[in-house]
Amino acid sequence: MTPAGKRKTRTLVAQVGELAHGESKKFTLRCGGANVEALLINYEGALHAYLNRCRHIGISLDWVDNQFFSEDKRFLICANHGATYEPKTGECVWGPCAGASLQDVPLEIEGRKIFARCPEVRFENGF
Ligand code: FES
Repeated sequence: MTPAGKRKTRTLVAQVGELAHGESKKFTLRCGGANVEALLINYEGALHAYLNRCRHIGISLDWVDNQFFSEDKRFLICANHGATYEPKTGECVWGPCAGASLQDVPLEIEGRKIFARCPEVRFENGF
């Protein structure tokens, strides 16, 4: 990892209360000299964030911008080939990458502000 990738800068991505259960918000982080897209989700009142990179072939999960949840808000779905992810953990529970997990993005909440940091781990194909 480059020194820039280890830098502990954080990015303001949302405000507390901005997302309801089953809603998502895309944001961009600058990690290791590259812009990487990520998604913040509210699932059953808890916030989670992942890189917007499917574990099947490493492309964005959404075809329709910012549409990640299944209709019933139970799972995150990759629009490309249907990989189905558990929102709480990012684990792919069905589809071509079953058993793999979305890259978790660390979140910090300070007051009403939600910040994200670059993940420590990189995919084999980079950010
Ligand atoms: S790229 Fe996500 S399932 Fe194929």
